[in-house]
Amino acid sequence: MESPDKTERQPCAENGEMVIEVKGLKKKIGSQVILDGVDLSIRRGETMVIIGQSGEGKSVLLKHLVGLMTPDEGSIKIDGEEIVGVPERRMSAIRKKIGVLFQDGALFDSMTVAENVAFPLQESGIKKRQELLERVTHALSLMGLEAHMAKMPINISGGMRKRAALARAIITQPECILYDEPTSGLDPVVSDSIDRLILRMQKELCVTSIVVTHDMRSVQHVADRVAYLKKGKIYFLGTPEELRNSTDQVVQNFIQGVSENGNGSNSGVSNGVGLTPVSPQPN
Ligand SMILES: Nc1ncnc2c1ncn2[C@@H]1O[C@H](COP(=O)(O)OP(=O)(O)OP(=O)(O)O)[C@@H](O)[C@H]1O
Ligand SMILES: [Mg+2]
Repeated sequence: MESPDKTERQPCAENGEMVIEVKGLKKKIGSQVILDGVDLSIRRGETMVIIGQSGEGKSVLLKHLVGLMTPDEGSIKIDGEEIVGVPERRMSAIRKKIGVLFQDGALFDSMTVAENVAFPLQESGIKKRQELLERVTHALSLMGLEAHMAKMPINISGGMRKRAALARAIITQPECILYDEPTSGLDPVVSDSIDRLILRMQKELCVTSIVVTHDMRSVQHVADRVAYLKKGKIYFLGTPEELRNSTDQVVQNFIQGVSENGNGSNSGVSNGVGLTPVSPQPN
């Protein structure tokens, strides 16, 4: 995979300005408390990685950032603008600044790969066939998928669907990209190239990124800072180095994949499924 072109935006100054500010975010679904006061600020051009056990609410948190879920309490500011409670019309304008790779890829089954990737461009008002074709081909070539543009999603592999969804997330060159498990289900070589792509998007286009992942190798590759979501709150926030060197046993258990009964491999840290029965984590 090559780097994305950098025609549309200049690299940003590292001024530390906050681009996303989440304060006191609370969300209950039914009787289950999912988010219990999440505070998290992400600077312009920063790559924030969110880690946490399966079911802790990472995807729910991302959905709040694009207005697909509404919190019970709390505030979310994007570029200084409060998005909680804004009318849908305004929200869809804000959404245009944000590219999202959903965890399940969520391609439209009835459209070809190329049509899927073209969709956000068409939504943003680009209609010229030639321009659409050039930009779609470029985005798909970044993902090594240009030979598969005409196929339907059902006729490509799971990893290819993921890459097609990634092409769709970056095609409009958004200011901010949310990646929900961008490397899960991909082989190590493709995973590495996705990590490199995330880094290049940041360095060359000053994209602000939030990456949800279980892949600890990816954390070390792409993160400026890491947030560990646990029991509805940010339990740990720091650099990858601070994460590695943390003396907190709960943090160490998580990053080393140690389960409650002391065995490794089933905390949900790796891409695989643990061999020991999944049990609740220690507090
Ligand atoms: N639309 C929904 N309706 C009911 N419950 C939901 C809904 N969306 C999420 N949940 C619940 O919220 C909790 C958090 O889900 P979420 O998908 O955010 O977890 P996650 O941290 O992303 O997990 P994973 O690492 O497995 O992707 C889960 O218990 C899930 O069942
Ligand atoms: Mg998830």
